[in-house]
Amino acid sequence: AETSNGANIFNNNCAACHIGGGNILISQKTLKKEALSKYLENYNTDSIQAIIYQVQNGKNAMPAFKSKLSAQEILEVAGYVFQKAEQGW
Ligand code: HEM
Repeated sequence: AETSNGANIFNNNCAACHIGGGNILISQKTLKKEALSKYLENYNTDSIQAIIYQVQNGKNAMPAFKSKLSAQEILEVAGYVFQKAEQGW
């Protein structure tokens, strides 16, 4: 099957720490729906925007991507993460 742009961006920039929607550094802070709802600020009110904010700015051990990825790429990877979270990875 063809791989989406969001999936490619994720595999190239995020999977090193978030393989399979997990988190190799802080094990509870995964990209699963339950963890995002619990730990990611504003996820429950504006999910995509909350992911975009975290990717742009980073947090603690997670690097910021705003100088590495374009706004369009960040939007695409955020949409991919949201869709995978909804699907249960
Ligand atoms: C947390 C997405 C790259 C390390 C998160 C969260 C999201 C996210 C949505 C919040 C998860 C939660 O609170 O349950 C992404 C995306 C990436 C990316 C889309 C690629 C563009 C990385 C990389 C690393 C990393 C490369 C490791 C070098 C972390 C860590 C946290 C985190 C340590 C927890 C931050 C904290 O609350 O202290 N990531 N991430 N992430 N990510 Fe990433």
